Amino acid sequence: MMLGKISGSVTTKNFSFKAEARVKKLQYIAVKDFEGKWILAYVDSITKYPNRTIGKAKVIGFRDSRGFLKSLVVPFEPETPVYTADEDLIKHTLGLKEEGLYVGLLGGYKIRVNLPVKHLITKHVAVLAKTGTGKSYVAGVLLEELAENGTPVVIIDPHGEYRTMVEENRKENEISQMETFGIEPKSYKKNIQVFDLELRNPVKLNSKLTTDEIFEMLPTKISSSQRGLLYSAIKNLERKDYTLRDIIEEVDSIESNVKWNLISMLELLENTKLFSANPTKPKDFVKKGKITIIDLKEANPEIQQIVVLKVAKELFTARKRGKIPEFFFILEESHNFCPERGLGEVASSKILRIIASEGRKFGMGLGIISQRPAKVDKNVLSQCSTQIILKVTNPNDIKAIMESVEGIEFGTREEIKDLPVGVAMIVGATEQPLFVDIRIRKSEHGGEAIKAMEREVSFENRILLFAPRFFEEDVKKSFKGIEEIVFLNYPIWKVFGVYRGEEIEFYVDGVTGEIVFEKDDSIEYSSGIRSLLELPPSQRSILLYLTKNKYATIEKLSNDLKILLSTANANLRSLMQKKFVASDGYMFRSAFEINVPPEPSLLRIGHKIIEKEMEGERLDFMVSPDFVHKIGEIWGMKILEVKPVYYPYWMVSHKNTKYLINGLNNRLEIEKSKVVRGLI
Ligand SMILES: Nc1ncnc2c1ncn2[C@@H]1O[C@H](COP(=O)(O)OP(=O)(O)OP(=O)(O)O)[C@@H](O)[C@H]1O
Ligand SMILES: [Mg+2]
Repeated sequence: MMLGKISGSVTTKNFSFKAEARVKKLQYIAVKDFEGKWILAYVDSITKYPNRTIGKAKVIGFRDSRGFLKSLVVPFEPETPVYTADEDLIKHTLGLKEEGLYVGLLGGYKIRVNLPVKHLITKHVAVLAKTGTGKSYVAGVLLEELAENGTPVVIIDPHGEYRTMVEENRKENEISQMETFGIEPKSYKKNIQVFDLELRNPVKLNSKLTTDEIFEMLPTKISSSQRGLLYSAIKNLERKDYTLRDIIEEVDSIESNVKWNLISMLELLENTKLFSANPTKPKDFVKKGKITIIDLKEANPEIQQIVVLKVAKELFTARKRGKIPEFFFILEESHNFCPERGLGEVASSKILRIIASEGRKFGMGLGIISQRPAKVDKNVLSQCSTQIILKVTNPNDIKAIMESVEGIEFGTREEIKDLPVGVAMIVGATEQPLFVDIRIRKSEHGGEAIKAMEREVSFENRILLFAPRFFEEDVKKSFKGIEEIVFLNYPIWKVFGVYRGEEIEFYVDGVTGEIVFEKDDSIEYSSGIRSLLELPPSQRSILLYLTKNKYATIEKLSNDLKILLSTANANLRSLMQKKFVASDGYMFRSAFEINVPPEPSLLRIGHKIIEKEMEGERLDFMVSPDFVHKIGEIWGMKILEVKPVYYPYWMVSHKNTKYLINGLNNRLEIEKSKVVRGLI
């Protein structure tokens, strides 16, 4: 069908056309070149004017006789007709194959997108998206397809959400969509085996640990003399099948005064009960046609990381020696197992970096899943040549994706932000990024049982946050014309202290240094505290004295405060210059506006605080705990503890200006918006 004709300036990469029929964004279109060959392009944007509609298109190119995707060398002629592209041209030009892992349909078409298995195993894959947008769902689709294909998989499942694959999908709204995708409900019971850390089918890790492994596993690093000790102990045991107990006894038998600390650390490892002289074998984990789920639900972070370190390492060694078949190793919540360098090394960091760079040579494919791409080790992420990207809004995460993916111009930042749930941008599987409607799961998806806000997600990035009571949708409903919305974690010090013999708590704004408190369901701030505390101590005490005593002569003031007349004079001059003190030449009085609630015990904020992984953006603390202690001094209270917590705000853009909406009461805060605007 003809859609219109080319008009305006034309390059070999872009052209515009006057649309005569309805066109859609990202629709594929076809144009004949000067030789009469069909060239594939897609609609990048559409603009409607009162009397015409102009589509802007980007050229994809054509496949040459050797199967390479070629771009255009001669621009199209003006007035050349533009047609809808037919399915064969799309499939052929994009390089979509009939075989592979069926992940979904090309956006807006009935064309199946099949990802080639070999390509994924040898090039690694990453599934990246913000929380709750379908990462685990897509991973489940991949697992189903790998099971059908017979490719073995080992998946690290920190939330225990994959075992539901033994059930067929019974969700009615999903079943009704199955026909579109040409699938039927199915249970994968035959294919699934689950290991966990409980008694039923526990993962048993090989207790024959090397010095290096122990070194990586211990939470606190050991000294070089302890390392030497460990090394000689293990050397003595080398020929046997030793356990951690043997190592401990061996270390104990050595005369040394650094051994005690080492022994207690080794005992910590022993107490995890993860290690056994009769460990689970690599060939038990990796079996043809089997999906092996390692369910680590409820295990603490260090334990999870140790399991990943040891399992990944043994599997990699076994694969290098050809003892197990080619397989996929999939890591949910990857940022916890190979965090970005600046965020600190964990036990599993090193082996995952090695697998990312060498696994491809040996047929151990890595699947990285994360809701915080910016928090995943760049060395690992950049080795994933195929990326399945779902909706991402955090600018740092989008940046991390852009930096690790080649050829991502097709989907701009905006497109990634706007992806609806269930639609993925797949980059790297073909030359051209693809927008794909991810197919419905045949088996049951287990992800939804875990609510995003409550789940134990990350270990290194957990914060205390006043639980938001209003969410993105609420804010969008109440404030019209929002162009962009992000969650902002606003820093607040939570202070515990004793005042007149009673325990009290209050909050200090981590940016302005003012006291924050709740009054009639709205948030109020003190004023003047910051300026007061930033004065030199002698000036501060003069000012406080004048605030209490209203008027004083310089003689009375210096007498009461026990300071020299000359010091009082110099400080009063300085305070007058700052307009904090006024005088008629004889009497001095405070002109300082300080507005502090008089009764510290009234300063509550009565909302629930939860511990969770940080999402969205965060402002840094700008006032120190020291500063907070000084506030206590003014009131004459004893400060016991100062703790960082965060306050929920929604930062919205309206007409290019940022505003803050309070996440507890859904109110616009103009003053706070001004403060934050100056910082971002
Ligand atoms: N392709 C899809 N088709 C239908 N529903 C989907 C699809 N993708 C996601 N969903 C729905 O979205 C919900 C969230 O998806 P999922 O559990 O995969 O999110 P996630 O990105 O893994 O989140 P988290 O970061 O919390 O682990 C699912 O429970 C499912 O109902
Ligand atoms: Mg998930």
